[in-house]
Amino acid sequence: MQLQPGNRVVVTGASRGIGAAIADAFERRGCTVGRVSRSGDPAGDVADPDSIARAIEGFGQVDVLVANAGIAHYLPFTEMPPELIEQLTRVNWLGTVYTVKAALPGMLERRRGHVVIVSSGAGIRSFPGAAVYGATKAAQRGFGEALRHELKGTGVGLTMVYPGQIRSSLHDHEKERMPDWYKLERGVPPEPLAQAVIEAVEKDKREVFHPASVRLLRIMHGLKPAFADALLRRIMHRSAAP
Ligand SMILES: NC(=O)c1ccc[n+]([C@@H]2O[C@H](COP(=O)([O-])OP(=O)(O)OC[C@H]3O[C@@H](n4cnc5c(N)ncnc54)[C@H](OP(=O)(O)O)[C@@H]3O)[C@@H](O)[C@H]2O)c1
Repeated sequence: MQLQPGNRVVVTGASRGIGAAIADAFERRGCTVGRVSRSGDPAGDVADPDSIARAIEGFGQVDVLVANAGIAHYLPFTEMPPELIEQLTRVNWLGTVYTVKAALPGMLERRRGHVVIVSSGAGIRSFPGAAVYGATKAAQRGFGEALRHELKGTGVGLTMVYPGQIRSSLHDHEKERMPDWYKLERGVPPEPLAQAVIEAVEKDKREVFHPASVRLLRIMHGLKPAFADALLRRIMHRSAAP
């Protein structure tokens, strides 16, 4: 959809990181942006269906919805307590469907709108230590891929976003114990990704990969997972595919 000044955009998880960069990019285009997060305005917790529904309803008409809020916990699966598994599932996966559920009916009624879902490269090919995180991101992918087809002909578009390693505070709470393959300094700034999201909304692109190495990962993994393993050992660390 062609963005116009005054278009109304909701970005979840926009208090910092990727969500903040996306919200800033829409604001630069003259859009009115609701930055939903637990600490944001409007305040909303995506893991609570009533809370996110209230936040979105309170904002009013939504032309573009960016379901971006998410958390990460990297731990070997055997060390991961069930409560953490449930929390990751509630925020990343259920949070996405609760958010879309709240905003989509209005778009369909008006026959105009666009949904953006921020998944991850880990939703294409997950990593040791990120079995649960990757599963929540793959769930978003399966959901968005099907929903895009369901929306065909309704006037509402959908874009899946697959970021690689982006500089943000996603792993601040676990910096000291990241797996060997994860190098914090490898992260790229979120602003070019935010710009790519704007372009994807305007051109109704199916997918955004950023940086470009994530697209290569998708191709290699699709051809044969062992090709992706070899690529990851080379560009990341052998522990990415032991
Ligand atoms: N950074 C990366 O390398 C990377 C790579 C691939 C995918 N991603 C994905 O990109 C998205 C954004 O991550 P980020 O890197 O920007 O992380 P971040 O800097 O930690 O930001 C996360 C945002 O989500 C919000 N949030 C967390 N839990 C929430 C909840 N229950 N309800 C509402 N908002 C909540 C946070 O705000 P409050 O704490 O105020 O609620 C914050 O605004 C996530 O879905 C993440 O999985 C990130």
